[in-house]
Amino acid sequence: MSNNLAMELRLGTRQAHTDAENVGFMKCFLKGVVVKDAFAKFLSNLYFVYSELETAIQQHQQHPVIKLIYFPELNRQSYLAKDMAFYYGETWPQQIIPSPAAQTYIARIRQLSEHEPALLLGHSYTRYMGDLSGGQMLQKVAQSALKLSGYEGTSFYNFEQITDKKAFKDKYRQALDAVPTDEIMVKKIVAEANYAFKLNMQIVQELEASLILALGAETYQQLTVSKNPGSTEVRAVHS
Ligand code: HEM
Repeated sequence: MSNNLAMELRLGTRQAHTDAENVGFMKCFLKGVVVKDAFAKFLSNLYFVYSELETAIQQHQQHPVIKLIYFPELNRQSYLAKDMAFYYGETWPQQIIPSPAAQTYIARIRQLSEHEPALLLGHSYTRYMGDLSGGQMLQKVAQSALKLSGYEGTSFYNFEQITDKKAFKDKYRQALDAVPTDEIMVKKIVAEANYAFKLNMQIVQELEASLILALGAETYQQLTVSKNPGSTEVRAVHS
C-alpha cells in the first residue's frame, strides 16, 4: 500500500515551519547569536521530550504504523545526556526540570502512547526530520557562537550512525509513504505534526525573556525585526 504521507506532511506543516523559524530564539540563532544559558535550557527541555518520545516509540515498536518509522539510530536521549553533563556537570539530573511547555509536550506524548500510538508518528517526523535538516545548520552556528570544539555541548545534533543525512531522509520519507493509512488518518497525523510544531515553538518562546535579559531589548529587537521566508516554503519536496 502506498500513500503521499511524506508530501502531505511537508505541505501540511509548511506554514508551521515558517512560523517556527520566526520565533525570536530561532531568528537570533540564524543570525549567529546564541546565549549559552538559554541554549542549555533549550537542550534540557529536549532531553525530557526525547526521553518520553523514545520510550513511547520503543514500547510500540511492533505497532503496524510505528514499526515502519522505528529507527533506533535516530535516538537522541543518550546524546542529550552528554550535553547535560557538559553544561550542568555530573549532578545534572538533579539540576534540570521540564519547563511548563515541555511538561505539556511530555503529557501529550504520554497520552498518545496510551490511547493512539499511531499519532506518535507526527512527533517523530517533526523532530527527527528537523534535526537532520535545519538542525545540522544550527549545530554549526552553536559550535562557532559558543566556541565549542567538535560536538562538545552540541552532541544532540550528532547522528553518528547516519553518515548520509540525505539518503536517510529519503529512506524515512519512503517509510512514511508505506504507512498503512487512509484519508482521515493522514489528516490526523498532519494535525498532530502541526501540534508538535506548536509545542516546539512554545518551548523556545519561553526562552525569549532570558534572551532579552542577556542581549538587551534593543539588540534583541534589531535581531528579530525581519521575517525569515521559511526553508520549506520554496524548495522542492524531495530536495
Ligand atoms: C531556524 C530554524 C530552522 C531552519 C533554518 C530549518 C531549516 C530547514 C530546511 C532547510 C529544511 C529542508 C531540508 C530538506 O528538504 O531536506 C527543513 C526541513 C524540516 N524542518 Fe526545519 N528548520 C528550522 C527549524 C525547524 C523546527 C523548529 C522544526 C520543528 C521542530 C523543524 C522541522 C523540520 C521538518 C519536519 C523538516 C522536514 C520537511 C519535509 O521535507 O517534510 N525545523 N528545515
